[in-house]
Amino acid sequence: MKKIIVTGGCGYIGSHTAIELIENDFEVVIFDDLSNSSEKTLERIEKITGVRPIFEKIDLKDERATEFAFDRYKDAFAVIHFAALKAVGDSIEKPLEYYQNNLYSFLNTLMCQHKLGIHKFIFSSSATVYGNPDVLPITEENKTQRPFSPYGNTKKIAEEILDDFTKSNPNFAAISLRYFNPIGAHESGNIGELPNGTPNNLMPYITQTAAGVRKKLMVFGNDYPTKDGTPIRDYIHVVDLAKAHVKALERLLNQDQEQPLEIYNLGTGNGFSVLDVIQSFDRVSNTKLNYEITGRRDGDVPKLYAATNLALEKLGWKAEKGLDEMIDSSWRWEQKYRNNKNDI
Ligand code: UFG
Repeated sequence: MKKIIVTGGCGYIGSHTAIELIENDFEVVIFDDLSNSSEKTLERIEKITGVRPIFEKIDLKDERATEFAFDRYKDAFAVIHFAALKAVGDSIEKPLEYYQNNLYSFLNTLMCQHKLGIHKFIFSSSATVYGNPDVLPITEENKTQRPFSPYGNTKKIAEEILDDFTKSNPNFAAISLRYFNPIGAHESGNIGELPNGTPNNLMPYITQTAAGVRKKLMVFGNDYPTKDGTPIRDYIHVVDLAKAHVKALERLLNQDQEQPLEIYNLGTGNGFSVLDVIQSFDRVSNTKLNYEITGRRDGDVPKLYAATNLALEKLGWKAEKGLDEMIDSSWRWEQKYRNNKNDI
């Protein structure tokens, strides 16, 4: 059984990926400092898969601690690196903290695995590296732009580091996955997105509003050049996203890579506006969401959706779940979590 180190494996995307990995017969070792997640995730993963991943509580900013942890899993086949801070607004207020956390963790992980001869790496990147694109849908050929936020810039810088590193070490194989807008939750309703404090992202804000945790969703602007004036995004089900990581891993396993660093968009290719999302939510939840249109949020771009053919051609992966299904699963998770906090 191939051992895979999943940094940030207790987080939202990391935990869904851990489940897919276990279900595809990989042995999962999670490195997480639990700064934005909970050890309870391990129980939730076990409840779904019957397997509790190996867990190391570790701060990857700490080089010595990282070396020490890696040393115990020298026999790992690959690392999937999710561990990072991810709140856009927060990163604008605390840029140094974001650069320190995201880049130190990234560098320490790469250096430690390289030293031990673990030569396969999958990176959790973001569509934010495209900035405000001129051409849609966005292909991987689109030029990257300096992202608006320090958070986004840590993704862009990390990709540039990976590019340099893989060029100088052609036996090191890396895949960077650029996520569009991950939403949704595992079909069991036992695992999902659990942001600390006030959510920054649309979907958890909607479900928390409907659950009575927040009063009202503020829709940030309806004067964008889109069909209804609200920004368009490519929402993708987190389980589809998790499955793409397994496909990327299989590509590394089979040594199918054509370049030392390969980059793939992970989206559905479909764009939906904020009002489309609210309508879908009302439909699947059979409620009426309380929302109000307000001013634009700094840094939001009008339209962002992926070209998906490269991932299909090279990874054999395609998103399967539609918007209503994504939203329904987010809502089921939110309700189950609120009703049954200690039991899931
Ligand atoms: N929105 C609201 N109200 C809210 C939250 C969001 O109207 O309370 C709107 C935003 O203005 C935007 C849309 O909902 O139009 C989606 O916003 P999110 O914050 O959910 O997602 P973003 O597209 O801004 O950001 C996401 C990820 C980032 C990543 C980026 C890449 O959260 O990590 O996609 O495109 F960098």
